[in-house]
Parts: sequence; C-alpha cells; structure tokens
Amino acid sequence: MKTVLVTGASRGLGRAIAETFAAGGYDTIGVARSVCEIPGVRTVQLDVCDEAAVTELIGSLETLDVVVNNAGIARLRPLLETPTTDLREILEVNVIGAFVVMREAARRMATHGGGLIINIASDAALKGIANMAPYAASKHALLGLARSVSAELRGQGVRVCTYCPGPIDTGILGPASKNPQALQPADIARTIVHLAELPAGMDIQEMLVEPMGM
Ligand SMILES: NC(=O)c1ccc[n+]([C@@H]2O[C@H](COP(=O)([O-])OP(=O)(O)OC[C@H]3O[C@@H](n4cnc5c(N)ncnc54)[C@H](OP(=O)(O)O)[C@@H]3O)[C@@H](O)[C@H]2O)c1
Repeated sequence: MKTVLVTGASRGLGRAIAETFAAGGYDTIGVARSVCEIPGVRTVQLDVCDEAAVTELIGSLETLDVVVNNAGIARLRPLLETPTTDLREILEVNVIGAFVVMREAARRMATHGGGLIINIASDAALKGIANMAPYAASKHALLGLARSVSAELRGQGVRVCTYCPGPIDTGILGPASKNPQALQPADIARTIVHLAELPAGMDIQEMLVEPMGM
C-alpha cells in the first residue's frame, strides 16, 4: 500500500484530495492546524510553518510515496490597502511552509528510492492577479522552488509536479467570493490521484488547469 501525505486536509481542495486517495486504497495522512476527522484518513494536527513538527512527522513515517503540498492561504485586497504583514503571512505559509515540507519529503524520497511531490500552486503562479499581489507572488515563488528541486533531484528519482489550477469552489476567499465558473474540488482531486498512479518514469513537471470559458 502506498503512503501519501496531504497538507491542508481539513477542508476545501486538500480534504477532497485526502478523501480521494483514501478511497483509492492509499494509506493517507492528512494534516492541518485544526483538528479534523476524515473517514479512512489518519489526521494529524500540524502547522506547516512549524519546521520541527514537519521534520518530526515526515521522519516518523515508515514509508512515503507521495506528498501533496496543498496547505495555503489567500487574501483578496487592493494593493494600496495591503499591509506588508499580508505579504509576510502569505509567504510564510505558501512558500516557507511548502519549502520545508518539500525539502523534508525530498530528503526522505531521495534516500528511499524516489517519490512524487505535487505542489498545489495556482494559475497565479503563471500570471498576475488583480487584488491578490502577495498571493500571486507566493505562487510564483513556489513554482520557482519546485522547478529547482525538480532539476536537482529528478536524477535521484524525486519527481516534482506543480499543479496550477484556476478558481476552485472552496471557501479560501470567503463566501462573498463565489465564482460560478469555479472548478470542483472532487474533479481536481481525481486528476491528482491519477498523477500519482502514472509510471515512475513519467515526469509531469507542470499542469495548468482552468475552467472552460475563462
Ligand atoms: N480555491 C481556489 O480558487 C484555488 C485556486 C488555485 C489554487 N488554490 C490552492 O489550493 C490550495 C488549497 O486551497 P483551498 O481553496 O482548498 O483553501 P481552503 O479551503 O481555505 O483550505 C486551506 C487548507 O489549508 C490548511 N492550512 C492553512 N494554513 C495552514 C498551515 N499553516 N498549516 C497547515 N495547514 C494549513 C487549512 O486548514 P487549517 O486552517 O485547519 O490549518 C485548510 O485545510 C491552496 O494552496 C490554494 O492556494 C486554490
């Protein structure tokens, strides 16, 4: 049985990904800051910004085949009203937290026969988004990190895929920001599990997924 670790699994896309892996027979570990219960998933309360806790968790796993680096935060705010603290907080979770998870997973995978790291970025990794400058900056940074880790470790069997979805129907921006075109978390989750089931010799490094009509 393959082991998968999903960060940000308490709700939204991460929860759908954890549920879909569990339904597919994976030993699934889901982490988030809040306590949550997901049928078939081993849930762990963890902040990805807590470096020691991330290192301890990943080091404690008997096997680790797939990591979905999904935990993330976003804010919708015009640039001229954006305090610097917004940028710091977003970079802390979306870049530094994701960096630590990626590094510890890669450390483990590079010495244990390889593995797959899927970073959930955004189409904001590839273009600017009005009223979301800190978020777009964080996702551009995540893509740069992932491309570099891929270049460095693919020779050791570590595949790094950066998944760049457009809007998804979750509560990340609050209830007022509903987008009728948004993609469904369960549909995205199916494609993530599919990526994990492809042969280890196939290295899909980036995926852009957008709703039709955008
Ligand atoms: N929704 C979209 O339109 C969209 C589009 C493109 C990409 N994405 C990306 O998809 C990912 C998931 O977003 P979502 O829409 O599902 O958001 P969401 O519904 O707000 O869920 C975010 C998840 O991340 C967890 N989380 C946040 N900070 C964390 C931390 N420091 N440590 C551990 N877990 C943390 C949250 O749980 P706790 O609060 O319990 O910690 C929650 O489980 C994010 O990386 C986001 O940038 C979303």
